[in-house]
Amino acid sequence: MSLRVIVLAAGRGTRMRSDLPKVLYAIAGRPLLAWVLDAVAGVSPDETLVVVGHGADRVTEVLPAGVRAVVQEPQLGTGHAAMTALAAMGEVAGDTVLIVPGDTPLLRPETLRALVEALPGVAAALLTTRMPDPAGYGRVRREGGRVVGIVEDRDATPELRAIDEVAVSTYAFEGTALAAALGGLARDNDQGEYYLTDAIGLLAASGPVRGVPVADPAEVQGVNSHAQLAEVAAEMRRRINAAWMAAGVWMLDPGRVYLDATVTLEAGARLYPEVHLEGSSTVAAEAEVGPQVFAVDSTIGPGARVWYAVLRGAEVGEGAQVGPFASLRPGTRLAAGSKVGTFVETKNTVVGRGSKVPHLSYMGDATIGEEANVGAGTITCNYDGRNKHRTVIGDRAFIGSDTMLVAPVQIGADAVTGAGSAITRDVPAGALAVERSPQREVPGYAAKKARKAQEKG
Ligand code: UD1
Ligand code: CA
Repeated sequence: MSLRVIVLAAGRGTRMRSDLPKVLYAIAGRPLLAWVLDAVAGVSPDETLVVVGHGADRVTEVLPAGVRAVVQEPQLGTGHAAMTALAAMGEVAGDTVLIVPGDTPLLRPETLRALVEALPGVAAALLTTRMPDPAGYGRVRREGGRVVGIVEDRDATPELRAIDEVAVSTYAFEGTALAAALGGLARDNDQGEYYLTDAIGLLAASGPVRGVPVADPAEVQGVNSHAQLAEVAAEMRRRINAAWMAAGVWMLDPGRVYLDATVTLEAGARLYPEVHLEGSSTVAAEAEVGPQVFAVDSTIGPGARVWYAVLRGAEVGEGAQVGPFASLRPGTRLAAGSKVGTFVETKNTVVGRGSKVPHLSYMGDATIGEEANVGAGTITCNYDGRNKHRTVIGDRAFIGSDTMLVAPVQIGADAVTGAGSAITRDVPAGALAVERSPQREVPGYAAKKARKAQEKG
């Protein structure tokens, strides 16, 4: 006896009003379908099959190894999706066939396990829950407490619509019973589709079918609209943030912290509101991040301070400071104790240990040594319209405010540039380079100007 799983993911997701297949919408950085497949993997099935149709190629691309796609074309309803999968599975007599929709990412493996365990002795078991607003869901019809069928919202009479116990497209069937029930499905409903829900009514007519109640309706909430996508994402965020807080992460306001499932945090990390961490980003112990930080594929080291900043593919070293209002672009590496301050942009740049770029600068394709200071308004002119060139700034160099560093150029260790200089040649170690016209004063200028104005009348 094997456990086989069918995930239903061929539907159009009409109510999303978009070309992206519904199951590919991401929450916490992962497609809805990936979350569902995680829950499925939690019950260790012998076989997992995903029914694809709308956007089949794109959906198939995200399937993990060992999970097989079966194309349903055309898509004639959930019952037809199950028929398509069953045809691809071969002999299922005596097996347990678990059917799960691809759009319920909050489903837990424990719940699937309970459903599978409810099957022995009956032809089918199904998850049900009580929804405060059951509109849109199939209602569970019971007689004398026993499940006798499911009626779709759009096919239901007002009395049946008043039922708040709903079916959530998650079933366990004994293989032979499923095959027989699917063979009996008809399309005599409002949508002219084969409804998988009707299989429950057919089986209940000849023997008991078990309902397995789920206490928290959020867990089986499907995503059919953007409003539901946002609700489910909020619930997932709550779960993810609760887990990180339990692991020792401080959050001032967890409702306003947005973490991809792929992000890692160390105990002692501190997150202020409006922090978005995506991809492979990590935050080490005692680092303070936010308010207002968007970081993708970036590393924030122990004790670093990052606020009001955008980081993409950047590495922030131990105790380094970033922001407020900084943009760290790919290839930025800030060594321990360095600083990239207010209104500074960096790209493909290394800022050495203890070096500072505190204000209003652009550092592109630059290598800055240790303990150097880059004055306000300094710009690396790294692009000549065709190629990018490197700027190298030596240890302890002091770059005067508003220096233009026209790359390729090297500033030696301990060298100094005068404020406002356009540096086009290398500066030797320890030298001062000044490039600007001498200042001149015109004595009595203001008085002379006033006299002239008076003469003109
Ligand atoms: C379905 C159920 C309803 C249940 C609700 C929420 C039916 C007829 N209705 O309605 O009782 O309350 O889910 O769980 O089953 N799909 C296919 N092929 C198709 C059609 C759909 O693979 O031809 C897939 C979809 O991609 C989706 C799942 O089946 O993952 C459910 O389809 P959806 O259109 O969302 O069904 P609902 O109208 O929500
Ligand atoms: Ca649905």
